[in-house]
Amino acid sequence: MTDENTKKLEEVMSEQSVRGKVLAVTSGKGGVGKTNIVANLSICLAVSGKKVVAMDADLGLGNLDVVMDISCKSNLGHVISGQKSLEEIIQVGPGGVDVICGGSGIEELANLNKFQRQRLLEELDGIQKNSDLIIIDNGAGISSSVVSFCLAADHTLVVTTPEPSAMTDAYAMIKVLAAHDYDGRISLVVNMARSVSEGKRVYRQISDVAMRFLDIPVYEAGVLCRTDKLVSAVRKRKPVVLAYPRSGITSSIGAMAARLSRGAAVKTKEGFFKRVANLFS
Ligand SMILES: Nc1ncnc2c1ncn2[C@@H]1O[C@H](COP(=O)(O)OP(=O)(O)O)[C@@H](O)[C@H]1O
Ligand SMILES: [Mg+2]
Repeated sequence: MTDENTKKLEEVMSEQSVRGKVLAVTSGKGGVGKTNIVANLSICLAVSGKKVVAMDADLGLGNLDVVMDISCKSNLGHVISGQKSLEEIIQVGPGGVDVICGGSGIEELANLNKFQRQRLLEELDGIQKNSDLIIIDNGAGISSSVVSFCLAADHTLVVTTPEPSAMTDAYAMIKVLAAHDYDGRISLVVNMARSVSEGKRVYRQISDVAMRFLDIPVYEAGVLCRTDKLVSAVRKRKPVVLAYPRSGITSSIGAMAARLSRGAAVKTKEGFFKRVANLFS
């Protein structure tokens, strides 16, 4: 973890202060790059000195562990069933990111009795207090658990690609947040763009429509271009920012992390997990 590439990445990342405690990364369509964005953003922020927790909240297709190359031995489900403490299920991933595997535990959040829920929430809130940022890797789509995590987060990062179906689904996600009077900040990442200008065009289209029809601002988180480096990093089971610390995609993700850190102050909501649980029930 403290290998040469991590050091190079530390050089690339500038010191920034993170505001806003919980960032939910989400999309309408699947396969747009959420998990890779969560893994690599977490690492960039962690190597710049932040205490970052990355949580896999994708019920069906969770693979944050694969992208971060850790083996998930246990998940929130084990905490809920009383087999493990929360501390025991946190696994330290590359760059020093604390990883929580959600697994079935996410689904079970909705079905806990009052006592179980209280105990779990106290543990999770302890994690929130001891970290600078929690980044949630959501599943695709607009299921109630996905929407709950976004609504409870201070900041939602919606990921799209330039594909029309991904754009439509990203807009649908933004529309759902607006319909719930989401009071956090919404930013858009355009991933797999053929060029920065194509990505910016996609950003403008979605943010214009959101402003015109939903009357909400969608901030620009940044553009990530399609690159074989990312595909090859995934094959090597190594996050791209560590596999290729001097690549274009690493500097784009690094810039995005810095921008997220600098972003307009968002009010910090306390008790994120309590809010998630309330929304689930
Ligand atoms: N910037 C990119 N350039 C090239 N391929 C990408 C890029 N981002 C994502 N991919 C491809 O998309 C696949 C799915 O990414 P993933 O992060 O698992 O998406 P999601 O979590 O949204 O389902 C990756 O394994 C990779 O092959
Ligand atoms: Mg994923």
